[in-house]
Amino acid sequence: MSNDILWVRKDDLHTTRLHSAEEQPLAAGQVRVRIERFALTANNITYAAFGEAMSYWQFFPSGEEGWGVIPVWGFATVSQSLHPGVAVGERLYGYFPMAASVVLTPERLSPERFTDAAAHRSALPAVYNQYLRTRSDPLYTPETEDLQALLRPLFLTSWLIDDFLDDNDFFGARPGAALLSSASSKTAYGTAFQLAQREGIEVIGLTSAANKAFCESLGCYHRVLAYEELDQVAADLPCVYVDFAGNGALRRQIHTRFANLKHSASIGGTHVDQLAASGAGKHLPGPRATLFFAPAQVKKRSADWGPAAFGQRMVQAWQGFMRQVGDPKAPWLTAQQHAGGPAVRAAYAEVLAGRGDPRVGHMLSLARAS
Ligand SMILES: NC(=O)c1ccc[n+]([C@@H]2O[C@H](COP(=O)([O-])OP(=O)(O)OC[C@H]3O[C@@H](n4cnc5c(N)ncnc54)[C@H](OP(=O)(O)O)[C@@H]3O)[C@@H](O)[C@H]2O)c1
Repeated sequence: MSNDILWVRKDDLHTTRLHSAEEQPLAAGQVRVRIERFALTANNITYAAFGEAMSYWQFFPSGEEGWGVIPVWGFATVSQSLHPGVAVGERLYGYFPMAASVVLTPERLSPERFTDAAAHRSALPAVYNQYLRTRSDPLYTPETEDLQALLRPLFLTSWLIDDFLDDNDFFGARPGAALLSSASSKTAYGTAFQLAQREGIEVIGLTSAANKAFCESLGCYHRVLAYEELDQVAADLPCVYVDFAGNGALRRQIHTRFANLKHSASIGGTHVDQLAASGAGKHLPGPRATLFFAPAQVKKRSADWGPAAFGQRMVQAWQGFMRQVGDPKAPWLTAQQHAGGPAVRAAYAEVLAGRGDPRVGHMLSLARAS
């Protein structure tokens, strides 16, 4: 059987190619998984934008110079196994290539998870090499797979950003405001959902004019402004800035306008055409823009609270968020399925351009119907 993989030009993310490769026989200890569905959001575009600098291209190398495979989060089923601890039919959640299938080498197995021990992944961050076995995953429910794939990695970041800011008493900006860019993005509104539960912080969402009504409809922002309306916020307001997409011009405006900007956190870099020019941050007024490093907060809180309590708090927050996002009467997000090469390429182009409807989450599949 052949495996369809979406290749992307590393030097021009707009250029894609659907590559078909014959599946190779498994070696002892390996499993092949059929990637049935994966989510694609702006976060995956950041993986590509930082593919070289942060090694994201190294997870699933294309094997051909100049071409990369973007990692995505999704669900897969074991279709072939030469590993005694992993059965055919087992369902997994984890980090996959944009492809129909992939070969993994399970190691360090527990009832909850295993690690892919492929040599080329050994030096990469462990969190991306783990595959969760859905039957023992406390966040898993079969009927919410789409929302899990779309939101889980994002909400974990949102939850940690909120906790990090509170843990640092908002760097002296409480009472005051948190300014969130890309307010219509899932990671931003997850953060707003958490921040809105804090006392003394006005949560202000900044978004494109077209997405203002959507952000207002969520109810998790105290105020929503289009990017052009930034001057409606008092210039002396104590505030923190959380920059989700790396728009250098907006960051400059915020650093220049707000005399009491207490912290500037950089979360992602989806604005591939306008990423804050390297070094630009050094010359801005106010606090230096600082990359938010989620694993550091995980480590700190696991030590503060203990790993079990950390996990419980996270599960509780996730469940609260899922109840809100998936509310059948007024869902914040609805999944749209795109199956097959042409549909996947079209969805990718839409997410890359950042012009999608924020109410719609893209679920993609390159797996052929079996
Ligand atoms: N560091 C981390 O660990 C981490 C984890 C999760 C997410 N993030 C970052 O958070 C950001 C949001 O990710 P997401 O997956 O939540 O996004 P998403 O839900 O797909 O967000 C879509 C929104 O993001 C903005 N956007 C997306 N692409 C754009 C583009 N090319 N140009 C301009 N605006 C664009 C637009 O918002 P507006 O109209 O509101 O501007 C758009 O409505 C990404 O930069 C991602 O890398 C980082």
